[in-house]
Amino acid sequence: MNKHWWQRIVAYQIYPKSFLDTDGDGIGNLAGITQKLDYLKELGIDLIWICPMFRSPMDDNGYDISDYYRVNPMFGSDEEMQILLDEAKKRGIGIILDLVVNHCSDEHAWFQKALRDPDCEEAGYFYFLRPEDGQVPNNWRSNFGGSAWTPVGDGRYYLHTFSKRQPDLNWENPLLREKIYEMINWWLQRGIAGFRVDAITFIKKDLTFQSREPVDAHGRYPIEAFENYPGIGEFLTELRDRTFAAFDCMTVAEAPGVPYEQLPDYAGENGYFSMIFDFSYTDMNRHLPDWSIGEFKRRVVQSQLSAEQVGWNAVFLENHDQPRSLNKYISKEDIGIQSGRMLATLLLTLRGTPFIYEGEEIGMTNSVWHSIDDFDDISARQQYQERIEAGQSPEEALTYFQNIGRDNARTPMQWDHSPNGGFSTVKPWLKSNPNYPEINVSAQLEEPDSLLSWYRQLIVLRKSETYGDVLIYGSFLPLENLPEPVFGYLRKTDSQTIAVLCSFSNQAQQVTLPFIPKKSILAAPILTPAQTMTLAPYQAAIFTCETK
Ligand code: GLC
Repeated sequence: MNKHWWQRIVAYQIYPKSFLDTDGDGIGNLAGITQKLDYLKELGIDLIWICPMFRSPMDDNGYDISDYYRVNPMFGSDEEMQILLDEAKKRGIGIILDLVVNHCSDEHAWFQKALRDPDCEEAGYFYFLRPEDGQVPNNWRSNFGGSAWTPVGDGRYYLHTFSKRQPDLNWENPLLREKIYEMINWWLQRGIAGFRVDAITFIKKDLTFQSREPVDAHGRYPIEAFENYPGIGEFLTELRDRTFAAFDCMTVAEAPGVPYEQLPDYAGENGYFSMIFDFSYTDMNRHLPDWSIGEFKRRVVQSQLSAEQVGWNAVFLENHDQPRSLNKYISKEDIGIQSGRMLATLLLTLRGTPFIYEGEEIGMTNSVWHSIDDFDDISARQQYQERIEAGQSPEEALTYFQNIGRDNARTPMQWDHSPNGGFSTVKPWLKSNPNYPEINVSAQLEEPDSLLSWYRQLIVLRKSETYGDVLIYGSFLPLENLPEPVFGYLRKTDSQTIAVLCSFSNQAQQVTLPFIPKKSILAAPILTPAQTMTLAPYQAAIFTCETK
C-alpha cells in the first residue's frame, strides 16, 4: 500500500450553522470557525470538513446549493472564507469542503432558467419528463419521503432524490459534467485540501424510469433504481480523472449502497476516492431496532477487514445525519465520561482516518424534543407526516425521531455554561441541548480527567513516534473468544503489536487473552496488564504485547 498524508491525519467535522455565532444572529458562521482554530489545533486536529457553506436557501441546511462559487452571506463573506483558509493553513490544518453534485437548489440559476425555458441548454442539466398521460412518471420515492417527482405546471415533472427543492443534476449530460469539473478545479486551485463528496452513489439512474415494487407496506422507496446503479463507475472515473487526480488532495465519499466487493473500485489504490464512509455499523440502529453489541462488533470487524484488503477507509461514529454516539451505543443510565472514553478509544485506534464530529469530544448527547415543531430538519418533518398518515401515533413517531433524528447532532456546540452554551448571545436557530451547563468545553479544557483530555491523549498517542506507526498503518486483527460485550483487537506491524480492549458492558467482565500483555499505554480506569484481567464497566485499555 502506498502511503498518503491523509492516512496520518485526524479529521474534525464542523456543521457551520451550529459551531459558533460571532455576529449575534443565532447562526454559526465562518468567523466562528476561524476563532476556534486554536482550540482545534490544541485538540490535535489536522483537517476540518466543513458542511456546505455555499449560497443556499437552506431548505436542507446548505445541501441545496444555489451558487457553488459563493459563500452563503448567512455564514460570512467570500473574504472571510479566504481568511479561514489562510489561518487554518498557518496552523497546519487543511480544509475540505462538501461537494454536493447529485443535486443543486431549485434556486440555482440553471434550474430557474430551465423552468422558464424547456428548450434551453440548462433544461438538459436536470431530469425533466413529460408523461403523455400527465401522471407522475413512476413510483420512485425520495430519500426524504414522498414522490421523487414534482410537477412544474407545464406538463413536466423533475426528479429529486431528496427534497423537492433539491432537483437532481443530470450526469448523463456532458455539458453539465463540464460545469461541475470546472467548479471543483476552481476550489482545488484555491488551496482546499479536498472534498467530502455528498450522496455520490445517487448520480446514476435507471434511465428506463420504470416503476419498482414497493419494498414494504409503508411504501418505502425502491432505492435500487438510483443508488449505486450499474454504469455509475464511468461517471466516477471521469470525475476523478478530470479533477482530483491532478491534485494531492483527499476525497472521502458518502457512498451508501456500495457492497464490499466494490470497495476496490471506490477506495482502492486507484479508486474513485481516497476513502469512503461505511455506514454498515453506524446505520445499524435504523434497520435493526434490536441490534446487539455482538452484531456491532461483527460489522465493524467486517468493515475493517474489507477496507484493509483494498487499502484504506474512514472511521466515524457520528456525523450531522446521525444521533449522538453515546445515545446510540450506550444505555441511557450509563452515558457519561467512562463510556465516552471507551467510544473515543475505539474511534481513534481502529484502522483508518478518524473523523470526530463537533461536540463528540466533550460527550454531547441527543437533545430533548417535545414535539415535531421543535425539529428544524426537513427530513424529520416530512417523514413524520408520512408516519402519521401511515397510522403511527404522534407519540410513536416522535419517539422515532427522538432516537434517530438528525437534529440531535445539530444542536449548538456547547462552549461554556453561559446562556445558549456560549454559542450565541441570542436565541439560536435550533434550541440548545439543556445539558450545556454540565457538558461544555470550558468545563473540560483544563481538567486532566475530562473526556476532552482523553481525546487529546489518544490523538497524541496516534501522532507519537513510538506508537504512531502501529496505530496508523498496523493491520487490524480481531480478538476472538472474548465476552460478547468486550471488543478487542490487535494492531500489528512487523516490529510492534498493540492490543485494544473496549468494554460495552456496565458490569465487570473477565477476559483471558491469548498472549501476555506487556505494558499499559493508556487505560481508563487504570488496569494492570495480565493474561487474565477483570475489566471495569466500560473499560478502555491499550497495551503493548510481544510480537510473534
Ligand atoms: C447527505 C447529507 C445530508 C443531506 C443529503 C442530501 O446525506 O449528509 O445531510 O441531507 O445528503 O444532500
